[in-house]
Amino acid sequence: MRISVFGCGYLGAVHAACMAKLGHEVVGIDVLPQQVAALSRGEAPFFEPGLPELLTEAGASGRLAFTTDAAAAAEATVHFICVGTPQKPGENAADMRFVNSAVDAVLPLLKAGDVVVGKSTVPVGTAEAIARRIHDAQPGAELVWNPEFLREGFAVKDTLHPDRFVYGVADTEQGRAATATLDAVYADALSDGTPRIIADLATAQLVKVAANSFLATKISFINAMAELCEATGADVTLLADAIGHDARIGRRFLNAGVGFGGGCLPKDIRAFMARAGELGVDQALSFLSEVDSINMRRRVRMVDLAREQCGGSIVGRTVAVLGAAFKPDSDDVRDSPALSVAAQMQLQGAKVTVTDPEAIHNARKKWPELAYASTVKEAVQDADVVMVLTEWSEYVALDPEELAPLVRGKQIIDGRNCLEPATWRAAGWAYRALGRP
Ligand code: UDX
Repeated sequence: MRISVFGCGYLGAVHAACMAKLGHEVVGIDVLPQQVAALSRGEAPFFEPGLPELLTEAGASGRLAFTTDAAAAAEATVHFICVGTPQKPGENAADMRFVNSAVDAVLPLLKAGDVVVGKSTVPVGTAEAIARRIHDAQPGAELVWNPEFLREGFAVKDTLHPDRFVYGVADTEQGRAATATLDAVYADALSDGTPRIIADLATAQLVKVAANSFLATKISFINAMAELCEATGADVTLLADAIGHDARIGRRFLNAGVGFGGGCLPKDIRAFMARAGELGVDQALSFLSEVDSINMRRRVRMVDLAREQCGGSIVGRTVAVLGAAFKPDSDDVRDSPALSVAAQMQLQGAKVTVTDPEAIHNARKKWPELAYASTVKEAVQDADVVMVLTEWSEYVALDPEELAPLVRGKQIIDGRNCLEPATWRAAGWAYRALGRP
């Protein structure tokens, strides 16, 4: 198949490379010349495990090209919309300007039989408006809404071997033809038995925000339990293990700690609330505002824990923050709880040094006022307190005996409940965590 991919960020670059890996002819289009130049050289512009290898392999095959010129999509039959929908500044709603400009760019290129595939996360109702514009511009072209569920850090695997496909498509002959075209794109995964759900446009758009709202709710639920554990001396990690054995609940996404961040969950639940308000059903999602509040409270509580460990004040204290990315195996610092806590402590008078295996470059752009170190050893030098805020495997594996001679105070705060308290305590450290005695 000949494929174009509009938007080459975390979603689109991985999608383009994976489509070429599957044997399709792919052109990736992005408005940022630096992004296009890096991808054309076979370099991943961000950290994503497996992507550099895929870019090299697909580049050598001659099936993958990147350009800033949207006209290059004219040859393609299937056009994926993979641009971002960030939160609007000062509002809960999603900023739709990148989706709108991608649609503007693709409309004049459409031929009869072409399929536009929407993957971006959008407010429900967007796809219906895009479908009308497509039919006005080219009655023989069709829209399929095919939300993306990939997780950063596992994006290549999630794209090549997704849990499920969802197609939102019109129940018409042309809609069925578009379904067959998209089936040909995903033939490999479909032949492996990946479930495929055919739905109307509204359901397909809602599936994505409903899934992310559920995940955010699950995390905030366990973080609310962590607050109860703190008030009662209980241990939230044991609680999560115990309730997680119930197959109806499940243990995944029950890790209590400093909470969720990133480019998806926080802005998606807010955009969903904003859309529900426009639809007159805001009460249905009012619980998401509590989910958001619980999540944000964890960041405040983290700073309070550091204050308690420093004897009541962090002013002038030296704090080492291990982790800047919103989660491990990513260099993404968008709405990162780790960086947000680091910045808060700096603003409240602490001397904060942050380290991260991959995200320092992005963190420095966002918070140039913070000090950065490239290794854990440098970061913890003379620290009064060390905080693990992103559970990179190398932080989980830290040896408390090795770190001890470097710090001023043997105080460790485990913001992700990822360390073994007994090991740290046995080495003479004061161990604190959220929701654990
Ligand atoms: C998420 C969804 O998982 C994905 O399906 C969707 O398409 C995009 O949004 P992503 O943002 O990459 O993916 O990260 P995810 O792995 O979901 O983690 C989100 C945040 O939740 C991270 O900050 C993570 O640290 C936090 N988290 C996750 C917890 O605090 N506890 C958990 O148990 C799990």
